[in-house]
Amino acid sequence: MLKIRFAEDVEEEQMSSVYIDAFEFKRDLNDIKRNFKIYQRLNEINRGGCLVAEHEGTIIATGCYVDYESYTWIGSVAVASKFQRKGVGTVLMLKLLDMLKGRAKSFGLDATSAGERLYKKLGFIGEYRTTVFRLPEERSNIFNIKYKVKEVENLPEWILKLDEEASGGKRSHVLKTFIENGSRLLIVHGKGYALLRGNRIGPLIAKNAKIAKAIIVKAIELGAKRLIVPEANEEAIKLMKEIGAQKRYSCLRMRLGKRRKERISFVYSIISYAKG
Ligand SMILES: CC(C)(COP(=O)(O)OP(=O)(O)OC[C@H]1O[C@@H](n2cnc3c(N)ncnc32)[C@H](O)[C@@H]1OP(=O)(O)O)[C@@H](O)C(=O)NCCC(=O)NCCS
Repeated sequence: MLKIRFAEDVEEEQMSSVYIDAFEFKRDLNDIKRNFKIYQRLNEINRGGCLVAEHEGTIIATGCYVDYESYTWIGSVAVASKFQRKGVGTVLMLKLLDMLKGRAKSFGLDATSAGERLYKKLGFIGEYRTTVFRLPEERSNIFNIKYKVKEVENLPEWILKLDEEASGGKRSHVLKTFIENGSRLLIVHGKGYALLRGNRIGPLIAKNAKIAKAIIVKAIELGAKRLIVPEANEEAIKLMKEIGAQKRYSCLRMRLGKRRKERISFVYSIISYAKG
């Protein structure tokens, strides 16, 4: 018997095991646990959370969401390998969409090739690819840095405005939660910002490629290794070539419902596949 229910605060260990098994990841377990913890923090303020599917008392699937007001993001959809292709993913997604449809005008997600067919059947359409790039280890071959980048502790109002203009949603609760959980905030005052979360950059929002480049260089100095670029932003793709970043893998960004009003030319990195 399959039971779909809300995840509880103490279950990130089991959810992370399902996730690692589903994606066959070698990634750091703590990193994945942190991802589920952030959803739980968002659940406390009623702006996100996770559903799990339980089979004989064991969690076998996860599916999470974040509410950005004008749209809702769906992430961390995973079914343990033994239980895949049995309809679990479809049931979980239908339950998630049904639960959220009253409050969301549209949904977005980044689909792996395994997920794409499932989401298409549910009515999602493809928008553009989002691609993981590995950054160069040294910044010494990146020239012409025109802007001064500062690290700050608090989120000023201009960042929230810029972020909303770029993403088309209200994401301050997610940005604040990341910062409270140790992410570092890099800015070019009034023009661009990024979060450095461990060795990942995301989001990186900037008014032009020169600003984005300065922030990336600073992030590399602080240990950044990767970011996820929306391929619809041609300037961002050109910048990746210029600095010698290497393409790794990509997902298809998909949506269900109304198109959100994003300004993709400002988006040099999304937050993550899990958070949009
Ligand atoms: C992608 C994923 C979430 C899908 O979950 P799932 O439970 O396998 O999905 P479903 O079983 O509902 O559907 C998958 C396929 O199985 C088929 N299927 C469903 N029930 C079936 C059954 N009883 N017998 C045979 N096939 C069945 C579906 O028709 C579908 O076929 P299609 O791909 O040819 O369209 C899961 O495979 C997974 O976790 N993959 C790895 C992680 C990942 O990529 N996650 C997605 C992130 S966007």
